[in-house]
Amino acid sequence: MKPTITLSPFPKEVESWWWTHAVERWPEMSEEKLLNTLRQEIVEQSDRFNKARSFDASAYGARDLSVLAYGNFYFSRTWMAARFALAELLSVCQWTPPAKGPIRILDLGSGSGASGLACLNALRENRIANPLELHAFDYSSKSLAYLKDLHRSCADLWPNTRIKTERNDLRNPSPKMISQRYDLVLMGFSFNEIMQDLELEERVKGLKEITNCLKRSGFLVLTEPAESEICRSLHQTVARLKELEEGLFILAPYWNGMPCPMARENGKYFSHEVRKYPVVERVERLNRPLRLEIREVKFGFSILGSTSPEPVPKTPNLLRLISPVKKRKGTISFFGMAANGWERFYEFQRRDLSKEVMNQLLGLQRGDLLQIEGELSASEDGRIRLTEANRLLPLFVPRVMGET
Ligand SMILES: C[S@@+](CC[C@H](N)C(=O)[O-])C[C@H]1O[C@@H](n2cnc3c(N)ncnc32)[C@H](O)[C@@H]1O
Repeated sequence: MKPTITLSPFPKEVESWWWTHAVERWPEMSEEKLLNTLRQEIVEQSDRFNKARSFDASAYGARDLSVLAYGNFYFSRTWMAARFALAELLSVCQWTPPAKGPIRILDLGSGSGASGLACLNALRENRIANPLELHAFDYSSKSLAYLKDLHRSCADLWPNTRIKTERNDLRNPSPKMISQRYDLVLMGFSFNEIMQDLELEERVKGLKEITNCLKRSGFLVLTEPAESEICRSLHQTVARLKELEEGLFILAPYWNGMPCPMARENGKYFSHEVRKYPVVERVERLNRPLRLEIREVKFGFSILGSTSPEPVPKTPNLLRLISPVKKRKGTISFFGMAANGWERFYEFQRRDLSKEVMNQLLGLQRGDLLQIEGELSASEDGRIRLTEANRLLPLFVPRVMGET
């Protein structure tokens, strides 16, 4: 299916910058020894994210080794997650930047800047010419120092931009801590860490403080790791805040301001995207013995703001893909979350499909927004059987240049 938007791959300049810094930090090490040292730390970080889940200021942002392992391995992934979420903000939520004057961006839990810098780069690639100001907050001063250095060193990726960093523990965000109003607030894979072990009402309180620092036309873009508990917690927090705040709207991932219908039950699927991107060479090299997933970025996300979303017809003809596309003996099928809030199973008979259409279907990615033309007939068990008359049209089908 033809992409509705094409994103740039992760920049080579940033990839080289991270590797050069690792080499310069340990000039006496052979390449293989350095790779192995970083690999050890990558595995520890993976365990910390997925198993131990213990975070404090002395965790992975306190040592050069931690920051450089993150930078050489995980940075490209959270960068790409931010790029996909921002693509949806720009093309589906139709964020319009201020006509003139600076665009102010706040990155909370910025680390070394994957989300904030990806945002500066995305805005420039989208020909948004306003001066850009990025304020980055994190409790790791070492990560913030790397962010500043990277911003300075790869200036061509984000011309005419300024950054300010601030060391802060964001566990209890307060109006005093964040005194300005911003056009965009980003939280890239940081909400779950900052709010770790907090009860729902405390998370809601924290999120409310964060949305309070948006301008009226501003948006908060949260991306999170695709782990069922983390994504459910994100969507439950967002849904509860929406119940309390009339003037706040949920603009993504679902239409018509709908809170995530999958957040409540322990269903088969939880809300997250699975997007392909071209492999980053240094990541591939590091990953050879580790065999972690590196060709896809999996993430949950939500976009909030005070602008009400453009309503769309509440029909099963409009859907977000929420499962893998399955090719079975006689069928091709997937689950979709329809614009009316129904989770539905959509199924094509393969005998009805040309090879071209079959390949198009198999090339769909979890998170694509689609429109199905023609009437839909549901069977008694709720399955929607599609025929050759039901053409699929792409509404938001982002793809990365060079991805195969
Ligand atoms: C997984 S990293 C994500 C970094 C970056 N946003 C990205 O997109 O790659 C999570 C970040 O949240 C920061 N963090 C966690 N808890 C925090 C807290 N209580 N206050 C400030 N920063 C925190 C960590 O230092 C780390 O930089």
